[in-house]
Amino acid sequence: MSAVLDNHGHHDDHAHHPTGIMRWITTTNHKDIGTMYLWFSFTMLLTGGTLALGIRAELFEPGMQFWRPEFFNSLTTMHGLIMVFGAIMPAFVGFANWQIPMMIGAPDMAFARMNNWSFWLLPPAAILLVSSFFVPGGAPSGGWTIYAPLSTQMGPGMDLGIFALHIMGASSIMGSINIVTTILNMRAPGMTLMKMPLFVWTWLITAYLLIAVMPVLAGAITMLLTDRHFGTSFFNAAGGGDPVMFQHIFWFFGHPEVYIMILPAFGIVSQVIPAFARKPLFGYASMVYATSSIAILSFIVWAHHMFTVGMPVAGQLFFMYATVLIAVPTGVKVFNWVATMWKGSMTFETPMLFSVGFLFVFSMGGFTGLICAIAPIDYQIQDTYYVVAHFHYVLVAGSLFALFSGTYFWIPKWTGHMYNETLGKWHFWLSMIFFNITFFPMHFLGLAGMPRRIPDYAPQFTDFNMLATIGAFGFGLSQLIFLAVILKCIKGGEKAPANPWEGADTLEWTHLPSPAPYHSFEEQPIVK
Ligand code: CU
Repeated sequence: MSAVLDNHGHHDDHAHHPTGIMRWITTTNHKDIGTMYLWFSFTMLLTGGTLALGIRAELFEPGMQFWRPEFFNSLTTMHGLIMVFGAIMPAFVGFANWQIPMMIGAPDMAFARMNNWSFWLLPPAAILLVSSFFVPGGAPSGGWTIYAPLSTQMGPGMDLGIFALHIMGASSIMGSINIVTTILNMRAPGMTLMKMPLFVWTWLITAYLLIAVMPVLAGAITMLLTDRHFGTSFFNAAGGGDPVMFQHIFWFFGHPEVYIMILPAFGIVSQVIPAFARKPLFGYASMVYATSSIAILSFIVWAHHMFTVGMPVAGQLFFMYATVLIAVPTGVKVFNWVATMWKGSMTFETPMLFSVGFLFVFSMGGFTGLICAIAPIDYQIQDTYYVVAHFHYVLVAGSLFALFSGTYFWIPKWTGHMYNETLGKWHFWLSMIFFNITFFPMHFLGLAGMPRRIPDYAPQFTDFNMLATIGAFGFGLSQLIFLAVILKCIKGGEKAPANPWEGADTLEWTHLPSPAPYHSFEEQPIVK
């Protein structure tokens, strides 16, 4: 075997390099792993989306149409779990893998082999989670928050869910350790912390959040497991435990989790808007401090999800005021994005459309969040469709639209080809219109008193539900355009120039080298 050194000084022994499926199983290349994360999350998006269409089909009109009530409950629960842990979180980790090394001038992630393992834990976890549909008693059905004591009573599907969550949590923690270590130790000379692209900053902060709260979730579900099988009574009042404690522990994880799903989205939008406004980001330092403030505040607001459990008024006031405080740094960010566009020479290619769309609809979700945060109002809308409307404005029009924006922004870099702009714009407009048709009516349903997580409803809710169902199917079908754009872009098309976004700030379209690591399986040119 003749080992030669390639132009980066690495051993480049082609006889060594696995091909086909083995390439993907053994890869330590951050770009390969990023690609796998993105395809995994897209598969989960379609899976979770299919469950959502099952929900909307049942709710098209009153009466029981398609499913047993128990199965309907599994649909809502699994939709939530799959979207949160399978679609949104891994998608952002995919972006981190692709972009962070390139943006800070590192050759790869710090722990390249652990990176491989972080990813490959996910498919088995997803299989475990989805297989819960096929065991006696069916999939978890108490909501994605798996509140005790409901979750202590359920069949073996819950155990599969708990195990899957444990594995996905381990994957997230390893991914985060990798991201923190890479950012803190592997920046190119001259890349000081306050010069890092904002996407890198938001991920650094997100990774700390993940390391802090994933173990809390692990603790909660471990206590759940021992309550279920080993005779403990952590959440069992009859044995001296407290079911409300489960909610406290869950939301101590759950609220920072909300920011885990939105801070990297802020990072993407902060890269895209300056590029298409042809101006540097307004208020870079304040963006960094605002992101950090949001992250810190996210630890002291968790009980705004539980105003109605009977906590003291002083507690309600504390969690209400702390929550409203988060509007301040979030407002700083929205102001900075708008100020970046102010007097910019803007164009509206698909990435910019999704980012500006994000600004409008995510802000809507932010405002309804403020409304939910006001304790006396929350008493009226707790567990209604108003809450469903609120968090879908944050997670679909927020996280998902930012992921679309970032995909269109960076896919020329990822594939070497330009995507089809016409199809991209169709994808944006159809998504935007159908998203609002789906979720805007839910505000009215919630205010009128329709509870969430029910398979049937009173006839006065019919019109808005029909509208929402039509919107949901339209939204689902629109995503096939996205799939078509991606596949076309991978297969070929116009060759992407070094910087396809003419005149854009070059910081985020980094020109720093990203040489092939030792275990790279393809020749990767140094980007000049
Ligand atoms: Cu919250």
